[in-house]
Amino acid sequence: MAAQTILFDFTLDSAKTGDEKQRQEVAKILRNELEHVFPQLELAYSMESPENGYFSVLHENKATIITCRIFQHGLLTVNVEYFLPAGKEPIMSFDTMRTMELILRQKLDSDRSKYLPPIKRGGYIDIYMTSSDERIIEYDIDKLVYEVRSPFQKIQILHSKTLGNMLLLDELQNIAESDLIYTETLMGRGIENYEGKEICILGGGDGALLYELLKENPKHVVMLEIDELVMEACNKYLNSICGDVLEKRRSDQYEIVVGDCVEYLKKFIGEGRKFDYVFGDLTDIPITGAPVGVDWDFIRTIFEHSFKVLKPDGKFLTHGNGTSCTESLELFEEQLALLKPKVKFTTSKAFVPSFMEEWLFYQVSFA
Ligand SMILES: C[S@@+](CC[C@H](N)C(=O)[O-])C[C@H]1O[C@@H](n2cnc3c(N)ncnc32)[C@H](O)[C@@H]1O
Repeated sequence: MAAQTILFDFTLDSAKTGDEKQRQEVAKILRNELEHVFPQLELAYSMESPENGYFSVLHENKATIITCRIFQHGLLTVNVEYFLPAGKEPIMSFDTMRTMELILRQKLDSDRSKYLPPIKRGGYIDIYMTSSDERIIEYDIDKLVYEVRSPFQKIQILHSKTLGNMLLLDELQNIAESDLIYTETLMGRGIENYEGKEICILGGGDGALLYELLKENPKHVVMLEIDELVMEACNKYLNSICGDVLEKRRSDQYEIVVGDCVEYLKKFIGEGRKFDYVFGDLTDIPITGAPVGVDWDFIRTIFEHSFKVLKPDGKFLTHGNGTSCTESLELFEEQLALLKPKVKFTTSKAFVPSFMEEWLFYQVSFA
């Protein structure tokens, strides 16, 4: 169940849309063609102005509304909008859309045209997300598997036909069953040696990083995750990427502590506890209990505290952002440059299936 909008556009010779008479001629050709697809078509409203061109609203049974604009600069846009109840077939099939586009392109002597298949709005499951540089991504989500609101965030497990179960926190994609490459690139599998090492994970509530690290024989891993309910959801629905590590919570090799990682980092600093590796596997906008300002302040706090619990030859490994998001990555690197003592970093990247984009990862150590 959703409102659906199909968008068509045609580039026309601007010499054919420059005055009212020419635009009326284009509108006539368009209406003739639309009547083949919508036999009950009626004109509800039209408007014409020398500065803004032609605009009309047509409808079929007041249910399908078609808005058309002819801009004098040589552009025709057609938006077809209707409400599709659950279980009903869309108003226009793929073939109908394609045929209408091709016929109109020919009849209007247009040298380029495009249609966007139905944009679906108002459905209970949100199938659109944005890439890190704010481009629209449509997912093939077919089921809301689980949803709960914890004291910290909205937790959802959605099922995608190609990506498997996906974890969303506050409507942002975190990890999916398809994303082993995310975890392997974050941990630098095959590059870093975790055998006998002491490791601290900040966040990581999906359990995938802990699960993969334990396969590399570390001495001990402590994971600091604030949200009990994220772990419960992932234990149940993302089992293929986290195994049973979230079930047991503790073994000779690891311990999961539920709490704000900043508070525990402070505690470790006080105790003089040190690690070979600290992982920043926090949400892009971490949950902050401490009054350290938002976003970048908090990230700086995480950096500062993490380096205080790292051994001199230790490493801080974390995810950055989409590689197309250069401004944000620059800001991230500026925060690293502010750290004292000085740090140096390398990066690696991987295309993460459920992010549908390439992601950058950082390996930071003392300079
Ligand atoms: C699920 S992991 C995965 C991160 C990820 N791959 C992404 O796309 O951002 C992120 C976890 O960080 C946890 N988290 C956020 N802020 C935290 C904090 N202050 N202390 C501990 N855990 C925190 C969240 O609850 C979440 O479970």
